[in-house]
Amino acid sequence: MESLGVLMLHPFNAYLEQELDRRFRLHRFWEAPPGAPRDEFLRAHAGSIRAVVGNANYGADAALIDALPALEIVASFSVGIDRVDLAKCRDRGIRVTNTPDVLTDDVADLAVGLAIAVLRRIPQSDRYVRAGQWKAKGDYALTTRSNEFSILSNVTKFSGKRVAILGLGRIGLAIAKRAEAFGCSISYHSRSEKPVPNYKFYGNVVDLAANCDVLIVACSLNAETCYIVNREFSGKRVGIIGLGRIGLAIAKRVEGFDCPVNYYQRTKQAYPNYTYYPSVVELAANSDVLVVACPLNAQTRHIVNQEVMNALGPKGVLINIGRGPHVDEPELVKALAEGRLGGAGLDVFEDEPNVPEALFGMDNVVLVPHVGSATHETRTAMADLVLGNLEAHVLKKPLLTPVV
Ligand code: DGY
Repeated sequence: MESLGVLMLHPFNAYLEQELDRRFRLHRFWEAPPGAPRDEFLRAHAGSIRAVVGNANYGADAALIDALPALEIVASFSVGIDRVDLAKCRDRGIRVTNTPDVLTDDVADLAVGLAIAVLRRIPQSDRYVRAGQWKAKGDYALTTRSNEFSILSNVTKFSGKRVAILGLGRIGLAIAKRAEAFGCSISYHSRSEKPVPNYKFYGNVVDLAANCDVLIVACSLNAETCYIVNREFSGKRVGIIGLGRIGLAIAKRVEGFDCPVNYYQRTKQAYPNYTYYPSVVELAANSDVLVVACPLNAQTRHIVNQEVMNALGPKGVLINIGRGPHVDEPELVKALAEGRLGGAGLDVFEDEPNVPEALFGMDNVVLVPHVGSATHETRTAMADLVLGNLEAHVLKKPLLTPVV
């Protein structure tokens, strides 16, 4: 492999670091502390750094991109790319990749896990056992002592709850499927495209075409064109422009020929079993559990504000597996402290790794350190995608998971 100069921004994955070192010419950004040494480091290596590898918390901002005149590609070890200056990358012709799909199950599992942990008070039960209170005070679930009783009265079911999802993308949809299996009703609010499970969405037609063997234009399609798909196409990757009724019918047919389906479209997909709310406040007002699963951008920053939390109400639970800034954190602390919101399960925070201390003392809150995708299997698959994208770039092949 040609010796691509790669700047890794943080040691977030040992396997990835090792493979980057083995396959490319790796520069470890963390070895130069911020300030003058880092500027010096960048000046010394700027000419040879053609790739940057970041993650959900360490991205390529405008200053870093400006300091790297030879930069060609930013490969993020994350699905969210809110820390990459996409506009600047587009201007400079720098490619950007992320790690979609491989982490969907893990993040969805965690969202449901957090909801159950909050509603069933699993961490509190664990602490009850560890503190020797089971032996001293009796069964947790049966206790009638006044202070524990108040906890017990807040322990409620997850099964059958009304679950609302902010952002019905790949992860949101996977959460919906899981919650459906718990007998929950699903509602959602989403601005972006709504992918169909198993089919891979591309945001532009060129990338779609680059990742397909057969490209079908289905947005103004007639019945005859369907016959373009026949047995000769078995196993071919099929790209469909326009996943309307006809596009979907074609997708179903080609799936029967073991063809993976990619698609591009501008319009929204309807999900017959899920209730769509055009307003987030209305969505929250009609839910028991509100899950944030949308990408972070200017429109979704603080999308969960005081009004939304009040609408969710004193029995409502907020789950955030998206990004910290989706939620107005000071307002969240106030809503929980004042009992205007029932509980929260949080994987992400506004200023990670800083977590508002007020949350530490709250029994209706479950906190985890941004571990949505943190299983061995998924992190390895994410690392392989980063490596695959860099190798494809060097070999001038289509990128595996392009964003820009
Ligand atoms: C990502 O990869 O963007 C998510 O933060 C995973 O938790």
